[in-house]
Amino acid sequence: MLRKSVLLSGAITLAIAAIAFVVLHESPEARLRRLQQQYDAVAAELGTVCPYAAPGDQAAFDRCRHALFGASQLRAALPERMLWGRARGKPLKDTPLTEFAPDVYAGLYAPLFMFEGRAEVAYDEGERLYRATLPVRFRNRLAPGQFPYPFWHDTTKWGAYQSATALVFYLRANDGRIKVAQFQPGVVDAQLAARVEADVAAFDGQWLWTDAAGRTQPQVTLFDGLYDPANPHLPRIDSAYRALALELREGECNDCHVPRNPKKIERLVLLQTTAHAAGEIKRILHSVRGGDMPEDEDGHAKPLPPAVKARLLAKAEAFDAVLTEARAWEAAQAR
Ligand code: HEC
Repeated sequence: MLRKSVLLSGAITLAIAAIAFVVLHESPEARLRRLQQQYDAVAAELGTVCPYAAPGDQAAFDRCRHALFGASQLRAALPERMLWGRARGKPLKDTPLTEFAPDVYAGLYAPLFMFEGRAEVAYDEGERLYRATLPVRFRNRLAPGQFPYPFWHDTTKWGAYQSATALVFYLRANDGRIKVAQFQPGVVDAQLAARVEADVAAFDGQWLWTDAAGRTQPQVTLFDGLYDPANPHLPRIDSAYRALALELREGECNDCHVPRNPKKIERLVLLQTTAHAAGEIKRILHSVRGGDMPEDEDGHAKPLPPAVKARLLAKAEAFDAVLTEARAWEAAQAR
């Protein structure tokens, strides 16, 4: 028995070494071909499940986000955590970006775009990374609760999103997964600029709100349409997050971890909605347990009063437990 497992692990090690050898010794041309093929397939699927449609077509958006949140090629191309933001014509290292778990990017952000179905892979000399460029259009006429948060809190951001012409994925050379994704803003004409101004003027500062029917908004951040409506844990996800949100406020987390990014964090983690916090729950637990968060203005850990810390951890653990049950229920349905 022991001999067999030793042999097996030896064989696996050899296989991994062989793959590593092939990848390491790949010529630049072969690598470009491999990545182009990989992203031809990703783009073809995106063009099929999220094709160009009217920018307010809710049914098209629902089909797209359901497909991408599921077993899509895009999701398969996402690492455990990726970076997202607007291209600003500067090196990535000088560009503020937001960190996302795959659920959040595949379910809430990528589906806001419609895809032509093509990708062009090239080597970016400046970044020393391969990048895939995919022509897109943005769904700017959806209801406000279909966006992960009001992008219209900021004039430049809202104009940039709406005028987007392409997504650019910067790739890891070895497995081709997406390290950084950016959207490329286009031209904001006078008509669009006027609409942007009107939307920005109407923003009331709330990341989370309750609509006239008493529902929490943005509804997309409650896994609405991503998890099965029959999932019995769904209502508890909302209430468990609301309980946690009160403690996050108490712990001053919102001073920094919100879309306005008041402290100009270079690699921002968002916690202000259910979906955003769900993507980060393990790291919330880890950083609060370890006393790393919150921090002060200078980036030094700033200990929470013990009672506040204990309450925050209890609510975070409860939220984590509900999420675990909800995900297990989804996985069982899929089988
Ligand atoms: C004064 C600003 C500030 C406050 C307040 C703050 N954070 Fe952070 N947080 C940061 C910065 C900056 C980073 C990224 C770099 C770092 O780790 O210091 C970060 C990183 C994180 C991360 C990612 C950690 C990782 O593993 O890299 C989590 C999770 C987090 N914060 C949670 C919290 C929670 C929960 C609170 C409230 C209890 C909080 N933060 C309060 C500034 C802040």
